Amino acid sequence: MSSHTEIITSAPAKIILLGEHAVVYGKPALAVPVTSLRVTVTATPAEATIIEAADLQQTLPEGMSAHELTDPLLRMISATAQHFGAQPPKMRFRIASSIPVASGLGSGAAVSAALGRAVALALGHDILAEVLNGLVYDIERIHHGTPSGIDNTVIVYEKPVYFMRDQIPQTFEVNRPMRFLIADTGRTALTRESVGDVRRLVEANPSQIQPVLDAIGYAVDLARIALAQGDSVLLGELMVKNHQLLQTLTVSSPELDHLVMTALDAGAGGAKLSGGGRGGNMIALVTSETEQAVRMALTDAGAVRVISTTVGGS
Ligand code: MEV
Repeated sequence: MSSHTEIITSAPAKIILLGEHAVVYGKPALAVPVTSLRVTVTATPAEATIIEAADLQQTLPEGMSAHELTDPLLRMISATAQHFGAQPPKMRFRIASSIPVASGLGSGAAVSAALGRAVALALGHDILAEVLNGLVYDIERIHHGTPSGIDNTVIVYEKPVYFMRDQIPQTFEVNRPMRFLIADTGRTALTRESVGDVRRLVEANPSQIQPVLDAIGYAVDLARIALAQGDSVLLGELMVKNHQLLQTLTVSSPELDHLVMTALDAGAGGAKLSGGGRGGNMIALVTSETEQAVRMALTDAGAVRVISTTVGGS
């Protein structure tokens, strides 16, 4: 083990701008990190390998290999150590997070990424992003069965990505900075469940659902061009279209629909759910002129938290 007495690592939240769910079926999606919301892991020497988060403390049983562990956090520690051919370091890993859980912001992937970095440093290594990304993806599979890999990729690389399954992620150009509000319905929802329901829908009605997935992929490709050209009108229209297509996939909810309508009525250029849906967060495209009114309208309509993020620019 290295001589560090305290190691601090972190990872950001993420939002999907367009393309969630269809991305599981090989369509493209656009996602960006939200650097103002983060998971931080502080590791200090201890008697055993211990994880401490707000509501839990767990000790890693000695001598168990990663695949024998079902708990995602313990497994991440063990799998990272195993990657370096080492035993899990005897340290206390304290997890602190400002990312709301089960709300489509990638909190699970961010915890795994920050933990993996901390374990690697504790063992005296810098972990390559590709390696960390693969390890976090394996943990994402425990959280929700058939993840596309977009969440772990945007969180580990901490860069905007144009993502397609099984292809090297590309970053995308943004000609003019675009401002988004991220509003939380306050209702948690498990991505695993919405992804599972979409899978059942695809399997039951492939001829009806495939065109919906194709249309989402098409909207993503147009949105990429809109971002590159700084065309916020087109981007906003595509977000609204994407939200309607997600409604067809049954992953919206009354709360999400209400916040989307509220944002549009208050002057947002576009609005849609973001992430797994059924609850969690929605995003709204705003400008410096509309931001304040949209934020207030979202809060009045019941959003429990509204934060802003800028895509592109410095
Ligand atoms: C969740 O943030 C995004 C989904 O498309 C699932 C996935 O891509 O794994 C709903």
